Amino acid sequence: MKKGELVVLGAIGVLVLGGVIRAVVQRPSAQDREIPFYSTASDQLATSASDLIRKYSCRQCHSLWSTRDLLQAVPAPMLDGIGSLRSEQWLYAYLSDTQPQTILPSRLKPEYRMPSYASLPEPERRALAGYLASLKVKDWYLEQTRRMEHDKLSGEQTAEK
Ligand code: HEC
Repeated sequence: MKKGELVVLGAIGVLVLGGVIRAVVQRPSAQDREIPFYSTASDQLATSASDLIRKYSCRQCHSLWSTRDLLQAVPAPMLDGIGSLRSEQWLYAYLSDTQPQTILPSRLKPEYRMPSYASLPEPERRALAGYLASLKVKDWYLEQTRRMEHDKLSGEQTAEK
């Protein structure tokens, strides 16, 4: 083996060892590694609702699965975990109302507010409400999710980052 190769191998060895030591020393708790959001929806519901969420550009304003449109600037509550905060009936009524702000008041300029989806075909509103209701958050992150929702709706800052 040439000297140059030995140096490279040695450097790789040091990097790998450093990574192992760091992983052992820092040892993230189970909660640090775990994503707290999950869905209980069937594959069929998840697929049809995801198509609707894309079709109606919900991610223009909301984040979901921790992603959102890069250009979105609307401070709407995230949809991850929303099914642990709201019931399916509430979600269906909210999507079906011609004036969602009578159910959930807005602090935002009209163009940023939750639009009415009352004109959508009923099966689409049912699929969206069913899917949103399936978006759960694990117990250990429920309080934090509640606080983040509260902050988005009120414009306050109480949640830990
Ligand atoms: C123009 C931005 C915008 C779009 C597009 C939008 N929303 Fe919203 N949504 C909001 C805002 C802002 C709120 C908070 C209430 C308000 O300010 O009107 C909200 C509230 C909600 C809530 C209630 C959240 C809570 O904390 O209880 C749900 C559920 C929701 N939206 C689902 C959807 C779905 C599903 C779509 C797509 C079909 C969608 N939204 C599209 C802006 C938007």
